Amino acid sequence: MTHASCGRRSFLHSSALGAAAGAAVLSGCGSPESTSPPSPAVETPPSDVPWTDVLPAAELPVGTSSEASVGEIQLVLHRSEEATVHAFSVVCTHQGCAVAAEQEHYACPCHGSVFNLQTGAPEGGPAQEPLASYPAEISGDTVRVKV
Ligand code: FES
Repeated sequence: MTHASCGRRSFLHSSALGAAAGAAVLSGCGSPESTSPPSPAVETPPSDVPWTDVLPAAELPVGTSSEASVGEIQLVLHRSEEATVHAFSVVCTHQGCAVAAEQEHYACPCHGSVFNLQTGAPEGGPAQEPLASYPAEISGDTVRVKV
């Protein structure tokens, strides 16, 4: 089994993101094109999993991205609206490198896959599946997730 090994890119704090991205564009390494974009892979934790505070909401202004971790699970976060935040695993669905948040997408340094900030859907590069997503919300002055 081949598993790319790469270092985790340092966090890039993005700002001033534009409008939401359009439909996912799929491109692969010689694999056939899909006729429909993949749905985000939503991790559904058991209902008794508690919310975990990951950072102050003030550290994630609308239109920016950040990263956080809960235990060994590393996340990228994007706040698209005042009360809307999105959380995804950093694990690239191509070969497992860690994606980083950039201004317009989450980017994988290993083979160039890029993922939508709000849906985690692949928008370029060899990855065909969306990033795993986790429930996330703004609660008071805190960003919290369920993992
Ligand atoms: S591991 Fe290949 S593009 Fe991310």
